[in-house]
Amino acid sequence: MQIEQNSLDVFLEAVKKLDAGFADLPAFTSQAPGAERIAAALSETAERLHDNYPYFHPLYAGQMLKPPHPVARLAYALAMWINPNNHALDGGRATSAMEKEAVAEIAAMYGWKEFLGHLCGGGTMANLEALWVASQVSPGKKILASSQAHYTHSRISAVLKLEFESVPCDACGRMDINALSSRVARGDVGTVVATMGTTATGSLDPLPEILALREKYGFRVHADAAYGGYFALAENLGDWAARAFARIGEADSIVIDPHKHGLQPYGCGCVLFRDPAAGQFYKHDSPYTYFSSAELHLGEISLECSRPGAAAAALWTTQRLLPLSRGGEFARELESGRNASLAFFERLGSDDRFVTAFAPELDIVIFAPRAMSVSEASSLSRKIFDAAAKRNLHLAVAELPVDFWAANLGEMQRDKETMTCLRSVLMKPEHLEWVPRIWEELSGAASEVLASAGAARTAR
Ligand SMILES: Cc1ncc(COP(=O)(O)O)c(C=O)c1O
Repeated sequence: MQIEQNSLDVFLEAVKKLDAGFADLPAFTSQAPGAERIAAALSETAERLHDNYPYFHPLYAGQMLKPPHPVARLAYALAMWINPNNHALDGGRATSAMEKEAVAEIAAMYGWKEFLGHLCGGGTMANLEALWVASQVSPGKKILASSQAHYTHSRISAVLKLEFESVPCDACGRMDINALSSRVARGDVGTVVATMGTTATGSLDPLPEILALREKYGFRVHADAAYGGYFALAENLGDWAARAFARIGEADSIVIDPHKHGLQPYGCGCVLFRDPAAGQFYKHDSPYTYFSSAELHLGEISLECSRPGAAAAALWTTQRLLPLSRGGEFARELESGRNASLAFFERLGSDDRFVTAFAPELDIVIFAPRAMSVSEASSLSRKIFDAAAKRNLHLAVAELPVDFWAANLGEMQRDKETMTCLRSVLMKPEHLEWVPRIWEELSGAASEVLASAGAARTAR
């Protein structure tokens, strides 16, 4: 059995418990087609879903994909019998309360008690809200983010008609603080986006230095911690990451994605504002929405209207089982992914067939095969990607600045400014014990590809 099924045993009990809460209604059976027709349609779906990489398996060590926790899947499915809408209390009383509680627990990770925040569709939507509020606070001013920041920032800026500028990165994929310093000195900057865990390499921008520049120049700091945000709980970070996370609570806004490292199904992002006054920008007068209560309806503080209450139920239940505390089970699992990436990085670094970049700051490793030139390494990367997939090891490919490898290139000819490399996000807790097997498959795939490249070179 590859796909976890044991947790389904407790599900029916929970459905019955939910049902019991509505026992005083007049008898009613909802219209549904017979079980046979449902089974036939579902069976087709199961068949169609085979056409996916096995994201749930530890040998899937490619993109940022983590299976939701079984309890999150079940809580989401349970809420589907109600299908609450967290736009308004009229649509989802219980799940709106759960969202407020779960979001308060996330904000508490950053030391925030008085704040404004809510769930949303994902990191893109969360960052859109943060940049939109930033543009309301300082209209007409520029948004800055590093060249390794998620592309969503420049695209969102275009959507919001805000001027965007990219700040160069150093050889570790972190915003170059000298470049930022001279740019903000020229003025006209409203917001600096500090990425706390870049998508490609998991690098962290120099937050303490960015905050020092804020003191001097008075711009807003938005922390895009969509990927890295939960690592604030990890106790095995290097000094650079630890000192950046120690200051994250000083940002003006933070984005974190429970659907990345928070064990949630897709459709769960979160945006937080340190100053609850950000709520003023969301104000609207809907003549048809908020009648059931004078209490805060989440739609009054979010841009999206209808949103799945099920996402809040899933997050709340997961945090009930795995509280967001340092030293707790949830934090230990994040630490385990980081240890996996360090162990993998060490193996790569001690094998001449590979060239490594900088050490992972979180749990993402980038590497390439050593070759005569960067362009040859690039084409070999793609071949290793394919050869590894044939062995059921699924990696990712990325195109990154060759500067990231500069210190380790040795004799390799630098004939390109970017290198197509391999990338592995070791974000599952199981990855640590699977590093030897991942290594075995990668090593086999690399030997195969390098041997045939060597043979081709000799034949030429
Ligand atoms: C740092 C960062 N910001 C924003 C996003 C966009 O998030 P989403 O894909 O949830 O919209 C990502 C996605 O990988 C990310 O890594």
